Amino acid sequence: MRFWSLLPLLFATVPATVSACEGDCMVGVTNAWLGNYTSPVNFVWLKVAQQISDIMPGHPDTQTVLGYLQPLLTAYKKQAYQGMEMAIFPNYFHGKCLDSDGNEPDGCPNPDCPIVCGTPGSLVHFYPKLRFIAYNQTYHLLQSIVDSETDTYQQVEQAIMNAAASDHGDRRRSYSRIYPRVLSDAVNVGHNNKASHSGSGSGSSAAGRDSVPASRPTDSSRSASLGSPKMLVPVFLKRAQDIKPALKSVLEQAHGLLANACGADGVEATNGLPHCSWEVIMKEFILSYP
Ligand SMILES: *[C@@H]1O[C@H](CO)[C@@H](O)[C@H](O)[C@H]1NC(C)=O
Ligand SMILES: *[C@@H]1O[C@H](CO)[C@@H](O)[C@H](O)[C@H]1NC(C)=O
Repeated sequence: MRFWSLLPLLFATVPATVSACEGDCMVGVTNAWLGNYTSPVNFVWLKVAQQISDIMPGHPDTQTVLGYLQPLLTAYKKQAYQGMEMAIFPNYFHGKCLDSDGNEPDGCPNPDCPIVCGTPGSLVHFYPKLRFIAYNQTYHLLQSIVDSETDTYQQVEQAIMNAAASDHGDRRRSYSRIYPRVLSDAVNVGHNNKASHSGSGSGSSAAGRDSVPASRPTDSSRSASLGSPKMLVPVFLKRAQDIKPALKSVLEQAHGLLANACGADGVEATNGLPHCSWEVIMKEFILSYP
């Protein structure tokens, strides 16, 4: 018998079964979750950028730090689709409700049939499970992306160390304006013990003290700054070395920030994920597929 002669039979069975979520539906549902997760994931990167700024010497603004983090953001975007589709579909929701012999078990394709079908109705019926799968996938992807063994991590670390190093230079320059004054003030205090309070006229008020660098004679700043960088360099190099472990610790905890963003309670079975549920709109969207 030719295959073609079976076609009418095959088609005849189609109206009886609910469509599995395949093709457009799979892509659409996966993209819907990724789209909804854009906001909590961006929140994670923003928090991470703020925390990294805190450990960097010049405290660059978050946009600047997000620039250093770009390889991680790109890696997330590259892997997110594939990971999410796999996590939802073959891993839990199984397309058509067929057992290993290719038969539809009794009670299928109703949601409570013995096989978890990949139909839109089933996705909606098992919504808490679906919601957790999407969260768990995003959480673990964030965790694996910041693995310090990867080239991506090394790129980010390098960018941040470079920025920190050049910022040390800036700070050294700016410290060389401030620090000598501290030194010379200390020297002045020493002198003041012996001599009269010379120069107290300009620097006695708090407001005057704030603007002291400008009012100081440039000659004394210049001569004092010659010695100060030598004293400051070891201190800053030590801090630069401290940035690496601090950066690692910030990035290792990135996925934990997703838990905060989603309102996760840590218990899978009862995890309502109040901020990462999107239940009404997502169910409506899923059911828009036949
Ligand atoms: C979530 O996804 C649905 C379906 O794509 C969309 O209609 C909705 O606007 C999204 N909500 C958010 C907050 O991104
Ligand atoms: C959560 O995700 C991890 C990593 O993808 C996976 O190994 C694990 O089975 C998932 N857990 C659940 C309950 O889906």
